[in-house]
Amino acid sequence: MKRILLDCDTGVDDSLAILLAMRSPELRVEAITTVGGNTQVDHAARNTLLTLEQLEQDVLPPVAKGEANPIERPLLTALEVHGGDGLGGVTRILEPDGSRRYPEPRLGLDPRHGVDLLLDTIGRFPDELTLIATGPLTNVARAIIRNPARMRRLREILIMGGAFRVYGNTTPVAEFNVFVDPHAAQIVLDCGVPVTLVPLDVTHQVCLMQSEVNAIEVEGRLARFVRDVTREYTEYHIEQDGFAGCYLHDPITVALAIDPTLLESVEAYVQVETAGDLTLGQTVADLRPGKSTRTNARVCTGIDAERFLALFRNRVLSG
Ligand code: RIB
Ligand code: CA
Repeated sequence: MKRILLDCDTGVDDSLAILLAMRSPELRVEAITTVGGNTQVDHAARNTLLTLEQLEQDVLPPVAKGEANPIERPLLTALEVHGGDGLGGVTRILEPDGSRRYPEPRLGLDPRHGVDLLLDTIGRFPDELTLIATGPLTNVARAIIRNPARMRRLREILIMGGAFRVYGNTTPVAEFNVFVDPHAAQIVLDCGVPVTLVPLDVTHQVCLMQSEVNAIEVEGRLARFVRDVTREYTEYHIEQDGFAGCYLHDPITVALAIDPTLLESVEAYVQVETAGDLTLGQTVADLRPGKSTRTNARVCTGIDAERFLALFRNRVLSG
């Protein structure tokens, strides 16, 4: 069993990643922190609690609200991708009697700031925790600035972020999480904890097709939530990416913690462009074999897409 921390900007694929992590016996989610990104941090926190409520599990991890804005840059959200509520519009779904299908969550937030919850939890489990970051790295960087020695007691950091040999999704060269807070990304890359990046190079190799979601046979609260939360997210992909499905950037990053054999990676020296006009947020590394004389991260370069989708189906689409 692997103890993990999740740091999310809970949008749709973050929500699916939380479901995958919580329904995988290989993992124990010790805490979830939220950060401004896909949506404002208050909505990311609400969306995280609402997601956890769909699991109908008795024991749930503490959830705390973290940093609202990037370290230096203004916040950029992705509401056009994840909906006005950041969760695919599910908070607007009404039942025939006019009541909300997904009302505001009854679950409460941990009173601590997300950065404090991160640091406190690492103090409880020194050298044991895998931190999985699926949003801009603002909370993680703030924790490093605040207490670098404590953060070095993390076992590893898995990051959904970057684009190396493919186009970006926010600019031609930059992936969203890194683009939103490039300064934080560079701080995390230099913090001395083993870092693995899961970039668009691999996450764009996997598509969850709408036909598969619609074919979920089991009825139940979770299956209905997965259908509801992916509906508008799929519409975006139909319009912008030309396929009737959706990318699963964040669940793939969680899957790396569940089964590291699902992805291939190489050692590299990764730097982040923090000042360029045209290249802000670009992740720069020479991935040619033997070209990196120094390294600061592993970069995932390949994925067994079918084995990942089988794992995701089994854990999340099985209702
Ligand atoms: O670029 C994709 C990443 O940015 C995903 O984590 C998505 O949820 C957004 O945070
Ligand atoms: Ca995310």
